[in-house]
Amino acid sequence: MRKLLISIVMFLVPVLAFPAGGGDEHLESVFINLRDKASLQRGAKLFSNYCLSCHSAAYSRYNRVGKDLGISDENIKEHLMFAGEKVGDLMTTTMPVEDAQRWFGVAPPDLSLIARSRTPDWLYTYMKSFYIDDSSPSGWNNTVFENVAMPNVLYGLQGNQLAVYETNGDNKVFAGFEMEENTGTMTEVEFDQAVTDLVNFLVYLGEPAVLKRYKIGVFVLLFLVVLLIPCYLMKKEYWRDVH
Ligand code: HEC
Repeated sequence: MRKLLISIVMFLVPVLAFPAGGGDEHLESVFINLRDKASLQRGAKLFSNYCLSCHSAAYSRYNRVGKDLGISDENIKEHLMFAGEKVGDLMTTTMPVEDAQRWFGVAPPDLSLIARSRTPDWLYTYMKSFYIDDSSPSGWNNTVFENVAMPNVLYGLQGNQLAVYETNGDNKVFAGFEMEENTGTMTEVEFDQAVTDLVNFLVYLGEPAVLKRYKIGVFVLLFLVVLLIPCYLMKKEYWRDVH
């Protein structure tokens, strides 16, 4: 009886532990594919064009990123870097921290490990959840990160997103987003893909060795398959006398 009770408790522990960990915000899910080099390259370009002016990725060097993602030094110089930098430089921002603090109230954090401290789903939903809010200093707000100091840097692509509220008694309840017509150069599908590429790149940034590990993994599996042959022959040899 005691054993049964203990097994029931042991069985329930993980079930009970999980719901407490999740937040109550609704997150959209994103499909991360680090083998998709084209997506990673597009993500790197978006990152350097739209994020590096405020955020750094100070654990990465341009030429390491180029090597991992298959981008030539010429293309890195042309598409990813600020003028005056060298390909061996770290991906630091040109914005001085004191200025950033003065402008935004908080310095934009380094994004090297952001995909690990936040999840890919969080990042994806965050980048898609900016909406116009005239009461905020930047003119933007975000449903995933309330009163965020970051403006919507991708509004030129996405368009001007508005939040729609329904009144429920005395409460205003968030009911969804609406896009102002003819703002933004991308369609919704294109923008979703762009944000997916960006998050894909941020996941790579958080663990650059992962691409190398994939390659090593293939060799390890091949080696194990080859190793199986002598092992099998040896087993046959050993058991010959026993049978
Ligand atoms: C104009 C400056 C600026 C640009 C450009 C910018 N950000 Fe930010 N970002 C900020 C600031 C400031 C914060 C801090 C917000 C806060 O704490 O309220 C922030 C916060 C964030 C956070 C949340 C970090 C956390 O606390 O977990 C993420 C994620 C992020 N930025 C991603 C990006 C990405 C991706 C881009 C490029 C598409 C980008 N940012 C471009 C200023 C910027």
